[in-house]
Amino acid sequence: MMKKEINSILLTWYEENKRVLPWRENKEAYRIWISEIMLQQTRVEAVKPYFYRFTEELPTVSALAHCEDDRLAKLWEGLGYYSRVRNMKKAALVCMEKYEGQLPTTYDELLTLPGIGPYTAAAISSIVYQERHIAIDGNVLRVFSRLLEVKEDIASKGAQNKIAAYFEEHFVENMGDLNQAIMDFGNAICLPSSAARCNICPLQDLCLAYQNHTVNSLPIKKKKKDRRKEKFTVLIYLYQDQVLIHKRADTGLLAGLYEFVLLDDHKTKKDYPDALYLGKHKHLFSHVEWNLKGFLIEVDFPFEKVGYKWVKVMELQNVYSIPGAFAPYRQKVLEIFE
Ligand code: ADE
Repeated sequence: MMKKEINSILLTWYEENKRVLPWRENKEAYRIWISEIMLQQTRVEAVKPYFYRFTEELPTVSALAHCEDDRLAKLWEGLGYYSRVRNMKKAALVCMEKYEGQLPTTYDELLTLPGIGPYTAAAISSIVYQERHIAIDGNVLRVFSRLLEVKEDIASKGAQNKIAAYFEEHFVENMGDLNQAIMDFGNAICLPSSAARCNICPLQDLCLAYQNHTVNSLPIKKKKKDRRKEKFTVLIYLYQDQVLIHKRADTGLLAGLYEFVLLDDHKTKKDYPDALYLGKHKHLFSHVEWNLKGFLIEVDFPFEKVGYKWVKVMELQNVYSIPGAFAPYRQKVLEIFE
């Protein structure tokens, strides 16, 4: 009795309320894959323009596998967590070698590819092939932690197992739509803390947290560790219409992306009396907080610096990928040449 109920309530709600999204128009595995990777850590509205641009330029696994690393980083610029796109290229190369240029078609095979974990494998295999797997993201955890009133840390194995077991038992048909229904439901109805719209929720009668007045306090999340704080100074050397940039190391934070001269600690105007001060900027990564100060230094001669090169300012726009951490400084030099 109950089984059918939640399954069909959610599917009915989805039919009436689903968001129109570009990756829902044509459920090709490649497009679903790109969208799901972009949607990890980035909001739907922010993803849309990236998704259009990326799939237009790289419409197939083969195009992705053959794309130059710098171009790929450029297509990803601003989305952050760049290892996501590097792994996608690695996975595309595996698909060229092992799967004739297509993504594999089962959850188990998808999981073997670089950058594809249980969430992404579940999303692709359910949305495209109706395999029965739950795609557990933040929204899904919130919905289920309330429905089942899970009173333990939502990141714990115990909590996740409870949710997976419930899903196994109650969700039987139309898995792709169900997974997406729960995502949209978490985005429109089962919103965080007091924004939850319980008054119009079709799952009210089934929701333990609603009945026990615990909606606002769920899900329970252990406090994240504080970010490590780091200070740097960004120096933009400008010679005529060229700036000095450098490609970061292949591993570690912002691997393989371009940056200006980056020095440890905060320098002061006294250190660079002829420079134009560009102000402070704070950038948050998942585990680190960067506090930057920027200076623009015009020079009369394009001096050599090992590992660096002079490039045209306009190439910061369409050739070299400068990570978001430096965006305000990049913007300031671009404005000079507008
Ligand atoms: N967030 C992650 N994947 C999504 C999807 N397929 N639809 C809507 N939101 C999402």
